[in-house]
Amino acid sequence: MATPIILDCDPGHDDALAIVLAAAHPAVRLLAISTVAGNQTLDKTTRNARRICDVAGIAGVPIVAGRAKPLRGNQIVAADVHGESGLDGPGFGPPVTPVTSTDGVGYLRDLLRGRAEQVTVVATGPLTNVAALLLAAPDVAAMIERVVFMGGSTEQGNVTPCAEFNVYADPEAADIVLHSGIPVTMVGLNVTHQALADEAVQRRIAAIGSPLARVCVELLDFFAGTYHDIWGFPAPPLHDPIAVALLAEPDVVGTTRTRLDIELTGTFTRGATVVDLYERTGRPPNADVAVRLDTERFWDMVVRAVATLST
Ligand code: BDR
Ligand code: CA
Repeated sequence: MATPIILDCDPGHDDALAIVLAAAHPAVRLLAISTVAGNQTLDKTTRNARRICDVAGIAGVPIVAGRAKPLRGNQIVAADVHGESGLDGPGFGPPVTPVTSTDGVGYLRDLLRGRAEQVTVVATGPLTNVAALLLAAPDVAAMIERVVFMGGSTEQGNVTPCAEFNVYADPEAADIVLHSGIPVTMVGLNVTHQALADEAVQRRIAAIGSPLARVCVELLDFFAGTYHDIWGFPAPPLHDPIAVALLAEPDVVGTTRTRLDIELTGTFTRGATVVDLYERTGRPPNADVAVRLDTERFWDMVVRAVATLST
């Protein structure tokens, strides 16, 4: 049976491919797309979710707009990585797919309360919406089977030497989710930096030849430019779809059970994910952390998803 999921995201080039994978993969049932401020402001990430649903022909999946600011601290966006629109590269017409609710957190609360079975939350932006939901309606934690989030790293960060963007953008939210009692899986840069959408991958997607495939290639092309200019990467890493892949085909992403803590106060380390891979702290394991990726199978999944939504 397909796993019912809510995809909480901040599109975002790689979020866009996460939406495509979640909508196309038969092992996953996409109940709703909630948007959060992250890569860009909330109005832009919400518009981008609508644009992707338009071009991918994703109909009947509610798009709901969540939180516009982090729980605490100053808002950051990633215009340097994703452009002023948050989805720079392709041209898009005016969005057609509607916004079902501008009270995204309330919408998710009611969706969860109204269900007989648990739901998995896949979060590919800052964890603000998920934390706000748990603060506003603690009872819905029992309805969430698991939170799989793209964020953090067992190694270096990408916004600061220690912190990855999604966690750095709202560390308190990540901390609340981690301590909620809901099983948490972290998919961090240590794994996502292995998924480089090189020319061979781009050629496979281009060969599909559909309007969606063309948009994906243009997105990857823009993303390649910023990843090259900022971090010197030879090709852009497609972080967010890996969180969906882990759920859809669990053996594509290997995890280890370990201790994970979020640094909230460090002078140089706020937003760091502190992962006790060598079990040095004696603190009990509290999370599953991704440590391996079958890149070939991952790209097969992504290419197949684009092809599926192109027919
Ligand atoms: C994460 O930050 C965003 O720029 C991407 O969409 C991804 O979710 C990578 O650090
Ligand atoms: Ca994202």
